[in-house]
Amino acid sequence: MTQSISNMHREEITVTPLEGKALGCTVTLPDYANNDPANLNEDDFTTLKAAVQTHLVVVIPGQKELLPKSQYLLTKRFDPSIPEPKADGGLGGYGHGKEFRHEQSVLRKDGTSVKSQPQVQILGQGVFEADEPGNENGETISLTHPSHTTFHKDVLSEEEIKVQNKTRFYRWHIDSALYGLSPPMVTTLLGIRVPPSTSTQTIDYNDGSGDQLELTRGATCFVSGAKAFELLLDEDKQFALNTTVEYAPHPYIFIGPAKATSDGLTMVTEGKETPFDQLPEWEESKVKKLPMVWTNPTTKEPHLQVHGCCLYKLHTKQPDGSVKTLDLKESREKVHSLMRPAISPQHVLAHGWQEGDLVIFFNRGVWHSVTGEFKGVGAGNKDERRLMHQCNIASGLDPVNVSA
Ligand SMILES: [Fe+2]
Repeated sequence: MTQSISNMHREEITVTPLEGKALGCTVTLPDYANNDPANLNEDDFTTLKAAVQTHLVVVIPGQKELLPKSQYLLTKRFDPSIPEPKADGGLGGYGHGKEFRHEQSVLRKDGTSVKSQPQVQILGQGVFEADEPGNENGETISLTHPSHTTFHKDVLSEEEIKVQNKTRFYRWHIDSALYGLSPPMVTTLLGIRVPPSTSTQTIDYNDGSGDQLELTRGATCFVSGAKAFELLLDEDKQFALNTTVEYAPHPYIFIGPAKATSDGLTMVTEGKETPFDQLPEWEESKVKKLPMVWTNPTTKEPHLQVHGCCLYKLHTKQPDGSVKTLDLKESREKVHSLMRPAISPQHVLAHGWQEGDLVIFFNRGVWHSVTGEFKGVGAGNKDERRLMHQCNIASGLDPVNVSA
């Protein structure tokens, strides 16, 4: 008895790698934190930060009551380069700028902000009344879970979704505006209300590989950018190390009319993109040109980090010092070939949500994707409901490839 009580007392944070998984760990908080990760002392926070950059995805269970303010303070603490919020009445440092919910943007329907802490976004599926957990906005909110059916070129049939329980990777991505702002260091994602974890769906890769991945409905999938780099052929490693990825101006509006490949890695090139002269005002100096490989600050490993849907061109330094540029179609095809091996089932961490899970992921070291179909799949053909709090904050500095 005495033994078990002393075991329950935790003086410091503990980090436990997920068993049998390609990446990820769970973390338990020390007692003094009172179950609020924003209360961690300097030593324990340093341990947490190293765990995030080493294991790439950290799960802290039991955080259902975490306040939006604590989530914001925790998220911000991972990146000392974050500029102080400007008094501009906008999202105040959120990872996306003011075009975030532009009516032509592919992100327009993805959520709403917590009024008291606008850097924290409310994401999910369904209608939530003013008094329900996670909705402190004092009004009814309506959330729409992104479904591949509105984003992919070829979509699953109703029969495949509702009877065969198939789904797709919605969009593999890094959380980032990719215009004007620098990619956030981490994203924190808190599951406040989630559907029962007993229901499963199967990812249909639909690319002739025969690959399939069974996961909990609504699982968030992650892959390691370090593993993706490691899987490249030597010549592709050299290509990646010498390539700069140029993103489109207002990229989510640029790709608004276009459709994605069935694996969610990139867009199909059919000339449907919004022409540059029809985009909201933009300036060349804000166009993002980022290395294709980002060095992990803790492990020093190279991570292949590309947003395959938002890219515009690839510029590759040749051995003779000249630069070769691939156009939009060529760039998408090249990036797809580089990224595809890393999303094979054995490399994917599919996090099935339990209520209260706080997931902290190293946004500069993983790619992630929403999965799952929530429409008409619950009891009595009702929509499943889900409510999450998400926070990420644009960094003050762009990521770097130290080996370039
Ligand atoms: Fe995301």
